[in-house]
Amino acid sequence: MRLLHLSDTHLTREAEPNPYGIDPAESLRRILRDCSELPGVDAILVSGDVADDGTPEAYAQAFELIGNREVPAFFTTGNHDERGAFAAVLGCGHPKPVAEFDGPERAAVSLIEGYRLVTLDSLIPGKTYGRISARQLDWLREILTEPAPEGTVVAFHHPPVIVPGHRVQEWAGLRNGDELAAVLTGTDVRLILCGHFHLQLFGMFAGAPLWVTPGVVNRIDLTGTPGVDRFVKGASATLIDLGGPHSPVLHTLHARDPEMGRTAYEVDFREVSLSD
Ligand SMILES: [Fe+2]
Repeated sequence: MRLLHLSDTHLTREAEPNPYGIDPAESLRRILRDCSELPGVDAILVSGDVADDGTPEAYAQAFELIGNREVPAFFTTGNHDERGAFAAVLGCGHPKPVAEFDGPERAAVSLIEGYRLVTLDSLIPGKTYGRISARQLDWLREILTEPAPEGTVVAFHHPPVIVPGHRVQEWAGLRNGDELAAVLTGTDVRLILCGHFHLQLFGMFAGAPLWVTPGVVNRIDLTGTPGVDRFVKGASATLIDLGGPHSPVLHTLHARDPEMGRTAYEVDFREVSLSD
């Protein structure tokens, strides 16, 4: 099974570049164009921050560019998303779910080529960091009671794995990773997919590989002074193959972009208080 994993498209109502000279829609078009010849893609997954401004227009654009294709597309919410507008355009985030969470959170289950894809909603309105509600965890526990033919892939926005010592990721990630790990441990989960950090990051979580794909709108480069995050231009994606002898195989793709890697802006988090 082959998945194209995108994240953090940060689409907006305005069809113009942001103050840093990045046009989110153009970043998305560029990576989709450069990935258009990839053979055998069974599904596209967007792990949150679909919209930057939470407007219906941004979700409509996401649907037009990603959701309205022959290959089915799956969306999760991120901290920038707005559940009402997301739901109005993208529903639960799955085109033909086999199960949906009964609540405001956008969580659902689909079956793709024998794999069970579960998306969770880690959005806390108004907060940068995330949490998966106790009711969603109960629902997930119930779903995972029965193994899927080829196993399960779980996707949500806020990673519970961070670059050790990175203060901002520690603050901005998933706040109840321990509770999620307790639900996932010992199940048929083969892979966990996240976004949010706008950089590629791998770690083991609850006995399964966890991957954070870099952003579509930009990428965060940690080669600068510790505490200073450098936001660089260029859209990225991850191509994921499941089921082969070395499964899961993950390969990062970068859009061909003459501006790739150029610094758009830097944020000095050493001066920022990371409270609620
Ligand atoms: Fe984001």
